[in-house]
Amino acid sequence: MKVGFFDSGFGGLNVLRAFQRLCPGVPTEYIADSKNCPYGNKPADEIIRLSEVNTKKLLCRGCGIIVVACNTATAAAIDYLRVKYPGVLFVGIEPAIKPAALKSKSGIVGVLATAGTFNGRLYNETKARFAKNVTVLATVADEFVTEVEKLGEQGLEGLPAAKLPRLEQVVRRRIEPLLSAGADKIVLGCTHFPTLRPLIEKVCAGRAEVLDPSDAVARQIRKIIGKSV
Ligand code: DGL
Repeated sequence: MKVGFFDSGFGGLNVLRAFQRLCPGVPTEYIADSKNCPYGNKPADEIIRLSEVNTKKLLCRGCGIIVVACNTATAAAIDYLRVKYPGVLFVGIEPAIKPAALKSKSGIVGVLATAGTFNGRLYNETKARFAKNVTVLATVADEFVTEVEKLGEQGLEGLPAAKLPRLEQVVRRRIEPLLSAGADKIVLGCTHFPTLRPLIEKVCAGRAEVLDPSDAVARQIRKIIGKSV
């Protein structure tokens, strides 16, 4: 079964690549809606509309499973899509606050995501259920999305080494306050952010673990494929 992925831009490629590592050979399609990026600050009804356009395109390309490879679009649109397209299997992504809360020793967890994700029902329910005993420092990092879109499909690999220090500064400005506040887990709650992971790891080195749910989502897709064939 062909698996379709969409995101507001290049971020969802991190989920696609995690899936391709796990299930090489399974046919995939990817839609980067970069012309409407960012989704993070858009009203929910607009994100629903854009997500439906992306979904229809993937269905036209023969996809039987749609991966909403965007935390913001999952928050706003996955419930709507599941009701509107009951014959289609949808997989979404949400910030990994549950494992972060369970593993945190300091009791302080930093979450980087968009405003849309933080305002969504999914995030708030998960947080209320699994992170009630930790302090969650919710941080909007829209400038990371802008930087990743500028990098394009190649991500950091396409960036001349001389340009890395500026980008590291952008990352450090956002993450250092979380580390200074005692966070020992940093959750990448937006699919664009793993593109900057080497820089995020560098800033966090020895102080906090970086968590990205892409591999868990890939395993979830594999499980669903297994059941549907
Ligand atoms: N990649 C999207 C996510 O996971 C957000 C980027 C955007 O704001 O468009 O939330």
